[in-house]
Amino acid sequence: MIAQNRFTTYTINCVTPKKPELNLPNSLIQDNKTHDSLRPIRWHNDHLQLLDQRILPSLVQMRDYGDVLEVAKAITDMVVRGAPAIGITAAYGVVLAARSHFSQDASNWQQTIQPDLVALENSRPTAINLSWAVNRMRAMIETFQEKVDPVPQLLAAAQKIHADDITANYKMGELGAAHISADSGVITHCNAGALATGGYGTALGVIRAGFSQSKISMVYADETRPWLQGARLTAWEMVQEKIPVTLIAEGAAAYLMKQGKVSWAIVGSDRIAANGDVANKIGTYNLAVAAKRHGVKFMVVAPTSTVDMATADGENIPIELRSEDEVLRCGGNAIAPDGARAWNPAFDVTPAELVDIIVTERGIVANPDAGKMQELMAN
Ligand code: MRU
Repeated sequence: MIAQNRFTTYTINCVTPKKPELNLPNSLIQDNKTHDSLRPIRWHNDHLQLLDQRILPSLVQMRDYGDVLEVAKAITDMVVRGAPAIGITAAYGVVLAARSHFSQDASNWQQTIQPDLVALENSRPTAINLSWAVNRMRAMIETFQEKVDPVPQLLAAAQKIHADDITANYKMGELGAAHISADSGVITHCNAGALATGGYGTALGVIRAGFSQSKISMVYADETRPWLQGARLTAWEMVQEKIPVTLIAEGAAAYLMKQGKVSWAIVGSDRIAANGDVANKIGTYNLAVAAKRHGVKFMVVAPTSTVDMATADGENIPIELRSEDEVLRCGGNAIAPDGARAWNPAFDVTPAELVDIIVTERGIVANPDAGKMQELMAN
């Protein structure tokens, strides 16, 4: 068994966009031709490796995980984040849990593992991909005969969830990019890229595909307070891929649209309700309202593992409330006076009526509503 929380540091220079001195480990480098060079999650020998997203872009650090509860904590603490990425991570977490419980009690491991599955599911509340992945692994756990080592099959299942996610992202990239005209500016919010998925990304998958086809001339990234996923992660990802990126404070988005600089807002999602309402990073709703006002099209890109047909509408999506400190402090420093309070919902809900298209790996839903979502998911 490996020691917990070993990590390897790869230091890169991220402040010189013209000549980034990138020294990524081979495991993170895939294919430069498709602007697809990053993999944040990796099964390595007998353990899970996660790229620590809390400290990007200053440090590129892979952390090693051999214990399921450490994996659940890594999800809560945002070492790994983004709906598909936390689902994939949880699937690998189940493999670690099964190995541990089977080695302790080969007759009873299918019962003793249950609290660990619940801990994974509860590690963050909004992204449905988490329970989607754990439920797939749970269903497989129920099929094992007594004393049969479950690890090889469970690992293969987790690796399939991982691989299928990347395949879906490529498909969505192709479908979404087909809607973008040549030489467009686009705006995105948070990070729905390779870092938030198994690789390639959802919203940033469309942007990668669109850029490869010379359809996108500039990506505007909302900085995305309080975690700064836009500044720290999306801008970093785009710089690594040599895709032009301009960072804006999200308060600048409506003014940017008024200048006619963008034709599409392209975002990911943590959960899409049965009527097409979309939960995503806090601030997405503001962006959708501004887009409607300025005639900018609004595209949501998410695999069907993000669609929750059991939740009727956005009102019923659980919204994660995170600590006040994330708003009151930045980079460890206080940015508000002692005594000020903060409200920190991590997500909001964009009503379906503000969404022009939802792009999934099964196809596109234009002007989503309950009937169209039903049709999509029945395929
Ligand atoms: O709090 P985070 O960083 O996990 O929030 C992530 C987002 O809101 C993403 O846009 C969403 O998960 C889609 S990722 C493909």
